[in-house]
Amino acid sequence: MSDSYARWRASRLGRITDALEQELLFDLLGPIAGKNLLDVGCGDGAIASELARRGAVVTGLDPDPVAISAAWRRGAEGVQLRLAEGKAESLPVSDATFDAVLAVATLCFIPDAQRAIAEMVRALRPGGRLVIGELGRWSLWAAYRRFRAWFGHPTWRAARFRSETELRHLLEAGGVDVVETRGAIFYPPCGVAARLLAAVDSWLGRRTSLGAAFIALAAAKPAETPQAAMRQKEREIDTPPTVHHKDGAASTISFAESPLREVRRQKGLSFYERWILPPLLDLGMRQEQLEKYRRAAVAPARGRVLEMGIGSGLNFPFYGEQVEAVIGLDPSPRLLAMARRRAADASVRAEFIQGSVSAAKCSASSRPFTDIPKDGDWRWRVYCHR
Ligand SMILES: C[S@@+](CC[C@H](N)C(=O)[O-])C[C@H]1O[C@@H](n2cnc3c(N)ncnc32)[C@H](O)[C@@H]1O
Repeated sequence: MSDSYARWRASRLGRITDALEQELLFDLLGPIAGKNLLDVGCGDGAIASELARRGAVVTGLDPDPVAISAAWRRGAEGVQLRLAEGKAESLPVSDATFDAVLAVATLCFIPDAQRAIAEMVRALRPGGRLVIGELGRWSLWAAYRRFRAWFGHPTWRAARFRSETELRHLLEAGGVDVVETRGAIFYPPCGVAARLLAAVDSWLGRRTSLGAAFIALAAAKPAETPQAAMRQKEREIDTPPTVHHKDGAASTISFAESPLREVRRQKGLSFYERWILPPLLDLGMRQEQLEKYRRAAVAPARGRVLEMGIGSGLNFPFYGEQVEAVIGLDPSPRLLAMARRRAADASVRAEFIQGSVSAAKCSASSRPFTDIPKDGDWRWRVYCHR
């Protein structure tokens, strides 16, 4: 396919048409200098290299090794492309990596286009832009290709052309908001017509996509709103923490009260409880005379340790190498913040759970936490769990 594309671009019709399509695509992409872009189905890298020339950091992806080699050779033209062999339906990239994702004349060749869109949206960072360019289903150009398919043309037999509405539905079902739709190439596939009508093509494309051979849509991935981020945080807080044992077993720490409600209860704390009490507690417990008790209490700890009422984490300096990790529970976010710093200073692996000791119980889903007494001074107890 790369060869026939190169021949097409070298023709007068191809040159004019390609320039109009690229102008439209770059318009829809907006400013790209310095941005991280993914071109899905990059073919021989013609568009990808133009994007790179305009200052974008471009990754081109295509399943066809011949196309990838052709794109690779563009390095000789002085453009730098990152190239990968792969399919749109399972992009070999991490989530939220790209500022913009582009797919031109590619979707029509993909059997599961919805899956490909889902993958492109996954690869986009929140607020990023997805631009799709396709041959319009109701255009003369598509009709001509369909005609060639009937006579056995292998490329076009596999292609499925879509209307603007179909493309819009694909994108919306993929979870992005279509922000703009434009058409281009209103002339029939003939060099003379292209030369005569090219000047009015962009003007027409801003008004309608009816009859356009090339339809392009720009969509935005919803930005992460503070409300959405808060809802996600709440979901995380409300998931009971799980402690994994060395032998593969796991116990969940469940709360009589939902941790989320616990956090909400925290919001009702008085100014004194929130701001004055935590530093006072920390100061009160930081006495040197207490250190020998801390040492004695912490010495038997080994494996994964659950410390109830961890406070400001004053026990951390006493945990030895035999301690794999400490899970600290405390109702005060401020004390937990101090504990987090102390764990880091003492290089102890730690996880923290905000919650009250009275509300927490350790479930015996597979194995219970041992030795948890019913009474006693919680702040001083360290419970070992092997
Ligand atoms: C018509 S070419 C377009 C190339 C380039 N986007 C351009 O406009 O110059 C279509 C490209 O889609 C690629 N392609 C086909 N199936 C694909 C898939 N499942 N995932 C990604 N790309 C695919 C083909 O290998 C081919 O290079």
